Amino acid sequence: MIVALLNQKGGVGKTTLALHLAGEWAGKGKRVTLIDADPQGSALDWSQQRARERQPRLFGVVGLARDTLHREAPELARDVDHVVIDGPPRVAGLMRSALLAADLVLIPVQPSPLDGWASAEMLALLSEARIYRPELCARFILNRCGARTVIARETAETRADHDPPVLRTAIGQRVIYADAAQSGRLAFEIDDDGPAAREIAAFTSEIEQLRTGRIAP
Ligand SMILES: Nc1ncnc2c1ncn2[C@@H]1O[C@H](COP(=O)(O)OP(=O)(O)O)[C@@H](O)[C@H]1O
Ligand SMILES: [Mg+2]
Repeated sequence: MIVALLNQKGGVGKTTLALHLAGEWAGKGKRVTLIDADPQGSALDWSQQRARERQPRLFGVVGLARDTLHREAPELARDVDHVVIDGPPRVAGLMRSALLAADLVLIPVQPSPLDGWASAEMLALLSEARIYRPELCARFILNRCGARTVIARETAETRADHDPPVLRTAIGQRVIYADAAQSGRLAFEIDDDGPAAREIAAFTSEIEQLRTGRIAP
């Protein structure tokens, strides 16, 4: 399947979640390619750092920050089990192309009652993509969640009100994600039984459930 992490805002966790999703799948023996569709190339930087640190290769990372993504991603997908697209900042042709390539769009957001979670422009592009691809599935994923109790309550109350809906699994604000990014590693390679490893496993299995069609688009 082709999963795209998209949000026009920077710093919401597109790269972090794309790398961890790809790594979780690779760790389970799946063949995975990560497409870095951000001209800034942070996933490519991570992969280069990983090579410098002599960490084993988990999955391939290719830079493809072009509007032809929707034509190239399915070709790359033929040779692997999953393609994960680390999306570009800003709403542009590149975002449109990623929306046309994906089977599942994940929109990472930092929960905030004041902020719209995704821009109207981005949601409009999502609706537009669904005209061509009605089966396109989209979900918000809460990232960098702080005080657990407050967020848990807010999420339970608001989850049902959002369109697209919100994944059950929320990702915590954890230093280990920043450490992992800097050292070319993944959180579960630093602590394989910690809370980050567990929430990434839950996040990945929730996505697999979406794929097997147990949850509606
Ligand atoms: N759940 C988290 N906990 C702590 N730091 C995080 C978390 N998610 C992302 N970060 C950090 O926030 C910064 C931006 O995240 P990143 O994944 O690069 O966002 P984006 O790709 O959307 O711009 C990075 O330094 C990353 O390490
Ligand atoms: Mg990024």
